Amino acid sequence: MKTSKRLEGIGEYYFSQKLREIDELNKAGKSIINLGIGSPDLPPHPDVIKTLQEEAAKPTVHAYQSYKGSPVLRKAMSDWYKGWYNVDLNPDTEILPLIGSKEGIMHICMTYLDKGDEVLVPNPGYPTYRSAVKLACGKCVEYKLKEKNNYEPDFDALEKKNLKKVKLMFVNYPQMPTGQLPTKELFEKLVAFGNKHGILIIHDNPYSFILNEAPMSLLSIEGAKDCVVELNSLSKSHNMAGWRMGMLCGAKERIEEVIRFKSNMDSGMFLPLQLAAAKALSLGKEWQDEVNKVYRERREKVFELLKLLKCKFSKEQAGMFVWAKIPAAYKDGYALSDEVLYKTNVFVTPGGIFGDAGDKYIRVSLCAPVSKFEDAIERIKNQKSKS
Ligand SMILES: Cc1ncc(COP(=O)(O)O)c(C=O)c1O
Repeated sequence: MKTSKRLEGIGEYYFSQKLREIDELNKAGKSIINLGIGSPDLPPHPDVIKTLQEEAAKPTVHAYQSYKGSPVLRKAMSDWYKGWYNVDLNPDTEILPLIGSKEGIMHICMTYLDKGDEVLVPNPGYPTYRSAVKLACGKCVEYKLKEKNNYEPDFDALEKKNLKKVKLMFVNYPQMPTGQLPTKELFEKLVAFGNKHGILIIHDNPYSFILNEAPMSLLSIEGAKDCVVELNSLSKSHNMAGWRMGMLCGAKERIEEVIRFKSNMDSGMFLPLQLAAAKALSLGKEWQDEVNKVYRERREKVFELLKLLKCKFSKEQAGMFVWAKIPAAYKDGYALSDEVLYKTNVFVTPGGIFGDAGDKYIRVSLCAPVSKFEDAIERIKNQKSKS
């Protein structure tokens, strides 16, 4: 069957391909330590599970739910934004619960893009921005994020571009894959840029609680609601990646526009999931501290592993990965990643999958227990002593 034109140039997602290869290697008896993907391996808070269990046992919760999400969940999201980010959001009109923030990226592209419309996407950046733009028949215009500029967009270079056809811009801080934290100045520049050029800035913010003491929302900047929507997620902050629980926040008009598309795609979320997510959002700082204590300990091991590989990295990164520059002896991160995989059965992600600006880097996930990192370190040490 011939697939649609919109699928041309859209490959299978890198990780689904790579996980198949890792599966084959495992079947062949290698026990691969996978330090690639950012899927939290720890469970949510026990009260969250308890709420899901109790709610799911009720006879009245199994019907279709509202397209806009349960009022209880929207209120919890609004309180969470006020409590952590000091952002006021009307729970009835300025929040749309999502089945994970990834679907929001696609919905936004389908809501706003026509053929030929342009979108600024970060390089390196989350590959889904690029594929969603292409699937919606838009055109990606990459902006490079460079280490020497603290992985911030070069606004002077952007101003020199012809921005007439640019409708959207994807940004993401703490940045994935580089781990770069935002500053208030950067956020102010983004809002000024969006307002000046009539570009809708989509801030994708799933990592603000991981190894970061000061979570920030782009919506906290004055004038932001005129040109910003923000995606957020419980996947990383609450160890709920498989639950598929996210949100879109922004001006009432933007939320209504996206609902016009989304309400044709799905029919709401299981109510007990929504109520359990509301419970998760009510957890205090002790929860975040507990999660971060685990990641901090793991990160020390990753630093050790990266030193063995002679990679260079900043210790000031946020999010659940460490981004590191490879030694000059390797052509690119793919070469280093393959060498580590085939010689030591440890998988780390080549930075090039996030765009060519990531070619000289690798990314190591913190989503494995300390014992796995210790194992990986041992394997690399053994291999080094042999060569
Ligand atoms: C930058 C970025 N945005 C969005 C997502 C999607 O998260 P969710 O699980 O909420 O769909 C991810 C997941 O890895 C991510 O890294």
